[in-house]
This record gives sequence, C-alpha cells and structure tokens, in this order.
Amino acid sequence: MSTVNSTLQGKICLVTGANSGIGKATALELAQMGATVVMVCRDRARGEQARSEITTKSRNNTVDLLQADLSSQQSIRQLVEHFQHHYTHLHMLINNAGAAFTRRRETVDGLEMTFAVNYLAPFLLTDLLLDVLKGSAPARIVNVSSNSHEAGYIKLDDLQAEHHYRRTYEQSKLAVVLFTYELARRLQGTGVTVNCLHPGFVATNFAQSDVGPTFHLLVKLIGSFGTSPEKGAKTSIYLASSPEVEGVTGKYFVKSISRRSAAISYDESLQRQLWEQSAKLVNL
Ligand SMILES: NC(=O)c1ccc[n+]([C@@H]2O[C@H](COP(=O)([O-])OP(=O)(O)OC[C@H]3O[C@@H](n4cnc5c(N)ncnc54)[C@H](OP(=O)(O)O)[C@@H]3O)[C@@H](O)[C@H]2O)c1
Repeated sequence: MSTVNSTLQGKICLVTGANSGIGKATALELAQMGATVVMVCRDRARGEQARSEITTKSRNNTVDLLQADLSSQQSIRQLVEHFQHHYTHLHMLINNAGAAFTRRRETVDGLEMTFAVNYLAPFLLTDLLLDVLKGSAPARIVNVSSNSHEAGYIKLDDLQAEHHYRRTYEQSKLAVVLFTYELARRLQGTGVTVNCLHPGFVATNFAQSDVGPTFHLLVKLIGSFGTSPEKGAKTSIYLASSPEVEGVTGKYFVKSISRRSAAISYDESLQRQLWEQSAKLVNL
C-alpha cells in the first residue's frame, strides 16, 4: 500500500470527474502527494466509493467529496458556493470531467450537452473560482482536452449544433484549447497559470454510457486497448504539481511535453469571440 508524502502538503486541489478513469487516478496521485483533494462527482454513491478507495490507498484523510452535475449551471454555481463555504484557498483546479454523446441532447439550460459539459462547465467553474485562485497564487489550472481537438472547428453561428450535429466532441475539445490560451493572456501577472493537455488513448469508462448494449461492448473492447488511467493521468499531475512547469502558462501538453496544438487554436480573434459568446451562454 502506498503512503502519503508531503510534496503537496497544505495545497488544495479540486478535480472534476474524480470518481472514474483519469480523474480518479489524478485525485489518488495528488492525495498520495499529501494534498487536500476535493473530488467533484455527479453521483454521490459512486463518489463516496471512489473517495473511500482513495483515502485507503493514499492514507490521506483530507479527501473531500462535493456533488455536482456539470451539465447544469445552477449545479456548478452551488458547487462553488459549497466549496467557498468550506475552503478559503484553491491552488490547483483540474477540469477533467468530460463526456461524448452520439445523439444531440440538451441540458436543463437548453444547451447542447457535449459543448456544455466539456467546455462551458470548465469555463463557468473556472471563472467563478478565479478570485480564490488569484488569492491563493501561485495557483494552477489544468484543462483536460484531447488530440481530437485537431479535427474540430468552431461554428460561432451554431455552437449549439442545432443545424449540424457533427464533430461536437472535437469542437468542445478545441474550445477548451482556445479558452486555455485566452485565459492565460487574461491571467498574466496574477500568479495563476493555465495549461491544457491530451491524456493519450486511455482505457476508461469514457463514452460507454451513451450507446446501446451492442455498441457498449464494442466501445468497451476498443477502449480496453488504451493505456491505464494511471498513465493517462500523468500529464495532468505533471502540470498540476511539477516545479518544472512553475510559471509556464498558455501551453498544450502531450506526455508532459509542450506541443503545438491545431493551427486554428492560436487564432486570437476566435479565442476572444468564443470567450464573449461563452460568457453570454453562462450568464456572466
Ligand atoms: N479516455 C481517453 O482515451 C481520453 C482521450 C482524450 C481525452 N480524454 C478526456 O479525459 C477526460 C476524462 O475522461 P475519462 O477517459 O477518464 O472518462 P470517464 O472514466 O468516463 O470519466 C469521465 C468523468 O467525467 C464525469 N462526468 C461526465 N459528465 C458529467 C457531468 N455532467 N457532471 C459531472 N461529472 C461528469 C464522469 O462522471 P460519471 O462517472 O458520473 O459518468 C466521470 O467521472 C475527459 O475530459 C475526456 O474527454 C479521454
């Protein structure tokens, strides 16, 4: 059994989607490094199960659980209220939760689900936590994107995929990269850094809940060829904790190495326009 070390003693980390896959492996490793870890999960029972497993394996008792459905803006706002009720600082925010849907569906806010969960949720959550992050500086934001962003394009006139439901996952992950770069510029001089990453092809529960029983098995089989969640979490953990990336901001990482993202992601005008539209969509 692993024991807790003190590398991140006194640091408070919030990890979304922490009950499963890459998020759970990230939460465990950060707990093993001695951090206070706040797990954000949408299902309390599954969250509690993961929390108890992480506490036992890491021997770290400062692992907390907050429940939130990131497809709901009200739930995200309540999450931030709960967090701020219990904590005065936040040193690492890991926007990890994500999902993919084969058919178009809408959130309680009337927004397209993939775009809302994968991109608008981290956009809103991060914005609501910016003051506490700045007050805790040096602090880090880590956004889990995907190399699928390279196949994405931003349809500013159809962000909700009302006309074409195609490449919505890719669009959402490209939006995460554009958001990361715009936010890095806006955070210059605050002591808060923000980077994004591709975790690799990882064997998790990803995209298994939205398909029927036949495709479920197929998706599970394909997924099983992926690397382990522990390996998939390495770049998130590196960006959240390594002294090597102290002060590094506005970059995209693969296997803990800074890489160029898709050419379109560097379009500053697009970054700004997306930001402005997103702020309206989440009522900021
Ligand atoms: N696996 C890969 O090969 C791969 C490749 C590139 C990028 N990624 C990205 O890596 C991240 C983690 O995915 P994973 O592979 O670890 O998949 P996973 O095992 O399915 O984990 C996804 C996590 O996100 C949570 N989540 C989904 N929708 C949510 C919502 N509405 N509210 C709150 N939480 C929600 C899930 O909660 P539930 O358990 O309740 O569903 C789960 O904890 C995602 O952003 C994904 O896009 C994964």
